[in-house]
Amino acid sequence: MGFYSNLVIPYCIDFAMSGSTLESYRQNLLENVSGEILEIGFGTGLNLPHYPENVDKITTIDPNPGMKRLARSRIAQSQITVDYKVLNGESLPMPDASFDSVVCTWTLCSIPLVNQAISEVHRLLKPGGYFFFIEHGLSPDVQIQVWQNRLTPVQKILADGCHLNRKISDLIAQQFNNVNIEQFYAPKLPKVIGYMYQGTAIK
Ligand SMILES: C[S@@+](CC[C@H](N)C(=O)[O-])C[C@H]1O[C@@H](n2cnc3c(N)ncnc32)[C@H](O)[C@@H]1O
Repeated sequence: MGFYSNLVIPYCIDFAMSGSTLESYRQNLLENVSGEILEIGFGTGLNLPHYPENVDKITTIDPNPGMKRLARSRIAQSQITVDYKVLNGESLPMPDASFDSVVCTWTLCSIPLVNQAISEVHRLLKPGGYFFFIEHGLSPDVQIQVWQNRLTPVQKILADGCHLNRKISDLIAQQFNNVNIEQFYAPKLPKVIGYMYQGTAIK
């Protein structure tokens, strides 16, 4: 991992992913998370304050050690014990059916082998377990799609592999039969990056 990804990107991501609009989505998504919890693409730990009060431990993975460094103070301030593993989401060492809930926020855009990562989410969930997600992705508006396709090569370079044009609903439906999803533009965000897919998928 290079200097930019390891030392610059974590500060940029932490800044870009903070703020009240995304906080309200985090709060709303995480209010029903329970049991043994895995979060993939934990980043700098911005979801931590939004887990329900009765959550006392979570397992998290993220491949970027720079994110882990920046997450330290947030973890130290939290009541939740965080088992933070520096790993890629595409290949995880935990046994099948280890978790009741898997959480993923604005990360499926950045995982290179995204189908493989969602397949890992499915494998790691217990039967009846829930995948909680909020992601940005492909807009239904053709004119916005044109710009999402044009800008994705630049976005991937600037934002550490982030794609603007992934159709998240299709990616999740390829692995899960039972998906409940809301799609909407987040107010105040440019449409190329602000089309959200929020929901749950049940194993
Ligand atoms: C835009 S950030 C979102 C961080 C965090 N989930 C949040 O909501 O603030 C995308 C995250 O995906 C992580 N990521 C990139 N490639 C990944 C992979 N192969 N597996 C898991 N996470 C990955 C990045 O390191 C980064 O922390």
